[in-house]
Amino acid sequence: MEIQLPFIFLSFSLIILHLFPFSFAQIPGFVSLDCGGDVNFTDEIGLEWTPDENFTYGEISTISVANETRKQYMTLRYFPADSRKYCYTLDVVSRTRYLLRATFLYGNFDNNNVYPKFDISVGATHWSTIVIEDANTIEKAELIFLVSSPTVSVCLSNATTGSPFISTLELRQFNGSVYHTDVENHYYLSVSARINFGAHSDAPIRYPDDPFDRIWESDSIKKANYLVDVAAGTQKISTNVSIDVKRNEMPPVKVMQTAVVGRNGSLTYRLDLEGFPGFGWAVIYFAEIEDLALDESRKFRIALPGDPDISKLVLNIEENARGKYRLYEPGVTNISLPFVLSFKFGETTDSSRGPLLNALEINKYLEKNDGSPDGDAMSSVLSHYTSEEWAKEGGDPCLPVPWSWVRCSLDPRPRVVSILLSSKNLTGNIPLGITKLTGLVELWLDGNMLTGPIPDFGRCRDLKIVHLENNQLTGALPATLMKLPNLRELFVQNNMLSGRVLSGRHNNGSLLSFFPRFSHSLITIFKMVTTTFILILNSYSGNLNLHKGSKKQSHMHAIIIGTAVGAPLLLLVTVLSFLVTRKVMKNNNEKDHTVSRPSQNMVSSNNDDGSVEGAQCFRYSEIKISTNNFEKKVGSGGFGVVYYGKLDDGKEIAVKVLTSNSYQGIREFSNEVSLLSRIHHRNLVQLLGYCREEGNCMLIYEFMHNGTLKEHLYGPLTHGRSINWIKRLEVAEDAAKGIEYLHTGCVPSVIHRDVKSSNILLDRHMRAKVSDFGLSKLAVDEVSHVSSIVRGTVGYLDPEYYISQQLTDKSDVYSFGVILLELISGQEAISNDSFGGSCRNIVQWAKLHIESGDIQSIIDPALRNKYDLQSMWKIAEKALMCVQPHGHMRPSISEVVKEIQDAISIEKESRRTSDELSRNSINSSINTTSMDLGAADNFLAIDESITQPSAR
Ligand SMILES: *[C@@H]1O[C@H](CO)[C@@H](O)[C@H](O)[C@H]1NC(C)=O
Ligand SMILES: *[C@@H]1O[C@H](CO)[C@@H](O)[C@H](O)[C@H]1NC(C)=O
Ligand SMILES: *[C@@H]1O[C@H](CO)[C@@H](O)[C@H](O)[C@H]1NC(C)=O
Ligand SMILES: *[C@@H]1O[C@H](CO)[C@@H](O)[C@H](O)[C@H]1NC(C)=O
Ligand SMILES: *[C@@H]1O[C@H](CO)[C@@H](O)[C@H](O)[C@H]1NC(C)=O
Repeated sequence: MEIQLPFIFLSFSLIILHLFPFSFAQIPGFVSLDCGGDVNFTDEIGLEWTPDENFTYGEISTISVANETRKQYMTLRYFPADSRKYCYTLDVVSRTRYLLRATFLYGNFDNNNVYPKFDISVGATHWSTIVIEDANTIEKAELIFLVSSPTVSVCLSNATTGSPFISTLELRQFNGSVYHTDVENHYYLSVSARINFGAHSDAPIRYPDDPFDRIWESDSIKKANYLVDVAAGTQKISTNVSIDVKRNEMPPVKVMQTAVVGRNGSLTYRLDLEGFPGFGWAVIYFAEIEDLALDESRKFRIALPGDPDISKLVLNIEENARGKYRLYEPGVTNISLPFVLSFKFGETTDSSRGPLLNALEINKYLEKNDGSPDGDAMSSVLSHYTSEEWAKEGGDPCLPVPWSWVRCSLDPRPRVVSILLSSKNLTGNIPLGITKLTGLVELWLDGNMLTGPIPDFGRCRDLKIVHLENNQLTGALPATLMKLPNLRELFVQNNMLSGRVLSGRHNNGSLLSFFPRFSHSLITIFKMVTTTFILILNSYSGNLNLHKGSKKQSHMHAIIIGTAVGAPLLLLVTVLSFLVTRKVMKNNNEKDHTVSRPSQNMVSSNNDDGSVEGAQCFRYSEIKISTNNFEKKVGSGGFGVVYYGKLDDGKEIAVKVLTSNSYQGIREFSNEVSLLSRIHHRNLVQLLGYCREEGNCMLIYEFMHNGTLKEHLYGPLTHGRSINWIKRLEVAEDAAKGIEYLHTGCVPSVIHRDVKSSNILLDRHMRAKVSDFGLSKLAVDEVSHVSSIVRGTVGYLDPEYYISQQLTDKSDVYSFGVILLELISGQEAISNDSFGGSCRNIVQWAKLHIESGDIQSIIDPALRNKYDLQSMWKIAEKALMCVQPHGHMRPSISEVVKEIQDAISIEKESRRTSDELSRNSINSSINTTSMDLGAADNFLAIDESITQPSAR
């Protein structure tokens, strides 16, 4: 099996075209494309750049970015934000490993305030979503993979915002097996972190120090969540002595000559791992570069949250590497890692020196998509038209989006279902590759200059519609074509076909010859009635030697089209049925419309007296009794005072007496209330009804026993006993789910407009529900008399909404981000004294601390360190995303829900393991001391291929 694979790939590869023959630069195995460039040049480190001049799509643009002088970054190529994909195809050597790197420096080339967001793919595999967050920062995507065909396609597609663009595309060929994995035929390695510790400067180390031009990032560059939480006593060291790195695919000597050591006994770091959580490949590179006295030792353990086993082994670099200044590279080929990775190296009690670390490499497994099974057949079709524009689209025929002239099925491995090549000036025979597309349903090759016979379409059993008219086809209509079980339309007129129509399908299509001009609209009309009739329209006219056969076959339903006499009659019938169909369709549409409305809520029928179905209309007297004449006040807010009440049936209620008298007319008011009362979700406070009498406006809600979240965070209810972190996460999850339902579960969706901690209520069991949704819509602004003027609460208000007055669901996300910050910090959204300096706003304050990696100083002291730092970070980072200045940069509430759930499972897991650890601590300390180094090696599951190059 192993042996056969290359042959399969080879045969596949032979028919893939070399669409863009970018020639190789002089460094063997290197391709460096300067997208949008116009000259060949060599850069300051010796890389030779070639313009992508043979690329025919897109536009080029020149940018200027402060402090960026490298020529390859001053140009870029950008593409329309349409539904197509734009692919670069590069020549590669099959069965070789490569590093593929794409970079993106936006530089505001389009003077647009919207930063681009788009997808890139390698062949049919989704590689990454490129999100530009800063105009002057280079975004980079890197992939390591074994190629299985002689070309590699990199495609840009799916512009969510802005225009897709690319600055450079680089290929670097490896010549060994360091990156070999057992699953490399099915998984790519997506580079997540490649770090040079103890670096002399911020500059990365790459070519020519690294012969494969891997970029070893300096550990001293400053960016968000990159190597933060550094332990005190961490020191950089370096040596001039050369390091024995064994092979050139190992880190360059220069990388290994620097390191960090933990003088106080430990090294700690935390960083975000792009692309994770997931399974990855991780290797740590060590070399002893300090002189240790004979009686000294350097022994340490690795601690990785979530992987307690790893800490059982003891590392001793010099022993493990069998000498000083020699590389030792323990690694794991399959490890599950989180997005926020925290790790610690801690010296053992019998060690005299603290831990040391030279470099680190972490890659994520990216599952390869094999693409459409029709890839080979389509390549063979293209091979006849190498110079045609439409044949140069590149990549997979169907994924991530189909070529512009192809339509595909929606299967996980999509099949080509339509070929749309009408009037493309095709010459030669009908490409045989088409007959191999066994999923084909529609084939349009009309209006070309195709010659030769019609090939055998017998394998395309699903073919329904075939257009071959207006070509120069010769020979007979193949019997196999006529026998296709699903064929509904076959058009062959104006060819040079001859022989008999074997199916004997009567009446030779003279409809078209009779009304040549109208034929097309007729067909259209016919298509509209095909729901009731199955139509077979054979048009053989214009073929000199084509005669209808004598045999009649009637195994298919057909409309029998008469000749000259029948046609006008048919036209009449058709027009009539067209009109009827249209009417029916129109009715259907109307019906669909109502059906598609949600059954749950939005359709209300008013009675003349203003009472509403769904929402209960309470009498004022009734409310007065149930609240004992508004005796017990349980809350107050922007909309009014809330009283406790109990109905006759014992149901507890909260009555909100709306203060403002500027509410909409009674009809609109009841309508709106009716809508809101029909929204049911376990995380939304149920609106039971309303009362509008004697100048009073009241809303009646279910009663929530435990008050508002605000009171539990910093109100008088806390009494110094505020809710713990996991409970806070659960409250956040509940509230986010409530908002998610408003945004995605209701049609039309409801924007809350006033999400804040005093609108999150807690029930008897401390489960949270969101209240007051949609309320601001009830109030009418006295001046403008529209209900969409900016409303909300200071401190929670989306700044973009405030400026633009355009309300979107992302405004709620902003407010929710503020709540997350309150949950972390126990601080109010706006405070005059808590935040220090001139800062009054929780967002500014938290942002400042979180972005500098210092989360500790904003965490609520009431949590007393009883939380997992990872889950805290997860929430902190999501909160910052939520309060991004622009709505399009914020996540959807559904993404936020997912993140909170992840944080909850991290928190639960860490509680479980910390319980276990405290139970097992005595046992494990005995076990680990007896562990020898050999066992340690086994334990780390060191990738055999790293030490023994496999014979490939
Ligand atoms: C572009 O195509 C021409 C003609 O096929 C070829 O000579 C040239 O080398 C190509 N340019 C690059 C950069 O590969
Ligand atoms: C760049 O160099 C390649 C060969 O290395 C050549 O084919 C191409 O024409 C050159 N392009 C320009 C713009 O000089
Ligand atoms: C550009 O470099 C200068 C000097 O190194 C520095 O002061 C400035 O902040 C840099 N500008 C940007 C935008 O990075
Ligand atoms: C396009 O991008 C959006 C947002 O990134 C994503 O939700 C969607 O699934 C993508 N569509 C395709 C076809 O990949
Ligand atoms: C087909 O050829 C004609 C004449 O050479 C030309 O005008 C037309 O643009 C071509 N059409 C396509 C789609 O290439």
